Amino acid sequence: MFIISGSTHQRLGVALAQETGAEFCGVVNKAYPDGERYVRILRQVSGRDVVVIQNTFPDEKIVELLLLLEAIHEAGAASVTTVIPYMGYARQERIFQEGETISARAVARPIGMRSDRVLTVSVHTPDVLDFFGCPAEDVDGLREVVHYLKGFTPGLVVAPDEGARERCSIAAKELKAPLHVMSKTRLDDRTVETDSGRVSVKGQTVVILDDIISTGGTIASSALLLKDWGASQVLAACTHGLFIEDAANRLRVCDDILSSDTLEGVYTRYSVAPAIAAAL
Ligand code: R5P
Repeated sequence: MFIISGSTHQRLGVALAQETGAEFCGVVNKAYPDGERYVRILRQVSGRDVVVIQNTFPDEKIVELLLLLEAIHEAGAASVTTVIPYMGYARQERIFQEGETISARAVARPIGMRSDRVLTVSVHTPDVLDFFGCPAEDVDGLREVVHYLKGFTPGLVVAPDEGARERCSIAAKELKAPLHVMSKTRLDDRTVETDSGRVSVKGQTVVILDDIISTGGTIASSALLLKDWGASQVLAACTHGLFIEDAANRLRVCDDILSSDTLEGVYTRYSVAPAIAAAL
């Protein structure tokens, strides 16, 4: 088996090759002066099983993934498994207002056409898996973050909104800590309001767990309440850390921020490679 990494995942690709015993296939990957992409795979993959790993975020990474999939197809690979650690556009999995489109389907379809199997990691909603039109599964990155959080022995796990309840409830059980679910109202793309009955957190380490941190508004709003209630330490944990715009500044209220390597960055503290390797 060959592992081919797109530009979003050089390190994770190498880690996966080590975990699975697969060969790593290098790629020439560049942009022309006008911004158009160019890719060339550097090993003979004809008749071989190939795993390609790349996010669909930001937008230009989608083009890169489609070019890689075409190149692998042209080269005559026996099978192609596409691993998408962070699937951008998964939050628009349905039409919320007339005139919109199902963006997740628009992105997933062409990827599925050149894949025999797709793996996502902690995708925002499993509803998007059907859009690939080929066998697709979601790999749960929760076990990895829970494993990492055990070192902090949190006294409370906080779900920042209803959508995070199920994930946080599993984590709370594993961490042997109670669960508290906040009530979140989104005012606009960057602003949320969090409300909740007060819970006793005085002197405790509390972890707020979400699937995605984007602008940081959701986490910051919960963290401010928890600090106000006397928590000694507030940790913000997620699988996918986008940290866009001034997220780092907004999250200064948190004592620590941890995210996985589905999006590699300064807050990456744990890897989802073992979970992906097990699924492969
Ligand atoms: C929303 O449904 C997600 O689970 C996250 O809570 C959201 O994407 C976080 O966004 P932000 O960091 O911008 O508040």
